[in-house]
Amino acid sequence: MRKFTEGLVDPQLIVSSLNIKQGQTIIDAGCGTGYMAKIFSQAVSASGKVYAVDRDSYFIGKLADEIKGTNIEVIRGDITKLDQLPDHSADHLYVSTVIHSLPRNTLADFIQEAKRLLKFDAQLTIVEIEKKETPFGPAMENRYSPEDLIQRVSMVPMKTVKVGEYFYMQVFQNTSES
Ligand SMILES: C[S@@+](CC[C@H](N)C(=O)[O-])C[C@H]1O[C@@H](n2cnc3c(N)ncnc32)[C@H](O)[C@@H]1O
Repeated sequence: MRKFTEGLVDPQLIVSSLNIKQGQTIIDAGCGTGYMAKIFSQAVSASGKVYAVDRDSYFIGKLADEIKGTNIEVIRGDITKLDQLPDHSADHLYVSTVIHSLPRNTLADFIQEAKRLLKFDAQLTIVEIEKKETPFGPAMENRYSPEDLIQRVSMVPMKTVKVGEYFYMQVFQNTSES
């Protein structure tokens, strides 16, 4: 699969569909180059905060140089165990084209961690490539359709939005306080 979604999804559609507000906290989990973290940074304004997380030290190091003096903080870490971040501290957890690459038995760990990180009523947003023939992308058996995600993610499904020719975004609401 082409490694990043920049140029393949519509960032403005994503931001407007998520109803992001100034002052909010957003985690971009598996941020890659961090291009969405930078867009979220503008959307939440200086009073908000964006955590850009990836396990890849090259991209995290490069992004750290680029975002100096902004409201973005970079974290090199595993999105299934983000001990660096406190409980119920985020308004949005955004994870774009990462879920399909997680080993099937760790998806549940990520969802558990998402519930811990998100405030009550906050949103988990998953962007994934469609589960149909596309000119590029992961093996079909590794892909999730929106219906697959709704079955596996134990949060309230809010909406599905087509955000690119081959990509959709599935938004969930966290109703867990534990
Ligand atoms: C296909 S890229 C997508 C990057 C970006 N979200 C985008 O939409 O362009 C997947 C990214 O997720 C990261 N990643 C995969 N599994 C991860 C994990 N368990 N913890 C942290 N980062 C992870 C990879 O290092 C890579 O940068």
